[in-house]
Amino acid sequence: MEDIFAARTKRLEVSGIRKMFELASEDSINLGLGELDFEPIDEAKAALTQAVNDGHNGYGPTRGLSALRKAIAESLCKYRTDVDMENVMVTAGATQGLLVSAMTIFDHGDEVLVPDPGFVLYKPHAIMCGAFPISYHLRQENDFIPQTDEIMELVTPQTKAIIVNSPNNPTAGMMGKDDVKALRDIAIDHDLIIISDEVYDNIILEGEHATMLNGDYDHVIYINSFSKTFAMTGWRVGYLATSKAMIEQLSKIQYYNIACPPTPLQHATLAALGAPDTELKRRLALLKERRDIIVKRLNDIDGFNCMKPRGAFYAFPKFDHDIDSQDFAMKILEAGVICAPGSAFGKAGEGHLRFSFANSKENIEKGMEIVEKVAGQISID
Ligand SMILES: Cc1ncc(COP(=O)(O)O)c(C=O)c1O
Repeated sequence: MEDIFAARTKRLEVSGIRKMFELASEDSINLGLGELDFEPIDEAKAALTQAVNDGHNGYGPTRGLSALRKAIAESLCKYRTDVDMENVMVTAGATQGLLVSAMTIFDHGDEVLVPDPGFVLYKPHAIMCGAFPISYHLRQENDFIPQTDEIMELVTPQTKAIIVNSPNNPTAGMMGKDDVKALRDIAIDHDLIIISDEVYDNIILEGEHATMLNGDYDHVIYINSFSKTFAMTGWRVGYLATSKAMIEQLSKIQYYNIACPPTPLQHATLAALGAPDTELKRRLALLKERRDIIVKRLNDIDGFNCMKPRGAFYAFPKFDHDIDSQDFAMKILEAGVICAPGSAFGKAGEGHLRFSFANSKENIEKGMEIVEKVAGQISID
């Protein structure tokens, strides 16, 4: 039986986060999830029902519905004014946008620089394409910002791409304009592609988002999604933006991969994009309040040190306790709170825990009581 599985399948491991969640009981306080505890807005839900009832249930264009691509291009004009629908392709979530980019760019033996700690898809996607993921490190002492001198040292003739993610999951690190420019310069000098995962660019709690999209198109694939912005993770609608020449190649792979993104859900997403942003603003204000509570509570725990996230909805405290992050998260889980061990995001995530604040203020307060109690029972190094 073992022999029938491809080498790429054997090289992949089940995500550490999934394993933890499977062990959780139903009444646990969930601070582990990478999805908001909100519903899609009413306009989007109504448009979805209407699209299904109006018969928009068939295949659509491989690159996505023109009306949605146009609306996305218009929304991206906040970053650069020359984006048009030919620069945009709709995908089945950022997950598929990332995979289709990997399949379009990575060859066997290529090296791909990935953040460590980093979102759980990047390494497996490289492996699935026969490429080698090479880690660059995100450290709290650098505000979890990629360090250009480290990246420069890792670039070899085999390097094909650098994957970046800002605001970042799990660290909540957020690059500034100078960081973005420095990485973009490396990509141009070495003829690399930057795959820039910006799925949290609408969840900015402080400061301004610095995008990779507003530079040289030829070296950037900008990845985004409606999962986080509109709290519609299960709808699987995302998009990417890049040069027209790159879109030509990406759409070949996309056709053989999913034929087209889901049609009725694209109609619903279009309605969400056209709706007033009052509800989104209210949600952002609420997330900020939750962020302030969780960061304060975490920093009040002896041996914890948590940077204040300026984007996304994760707190990623460093701990000095004499335990590894997997065992620590397991103890917290047994006490009734789900969080993710830092090591689930790479070796450099060890010594951290990830708490998502996509939960009510009451639950965050209750959860932090429990975490404090568990932490108090473990000795500090
Ligand atoms: C950094 C990052 N990229 C991509 C994704 C996947 O998003 P989607 O639901 O659009 O596939 C996530 C989801 O947690 C994420 O955190």
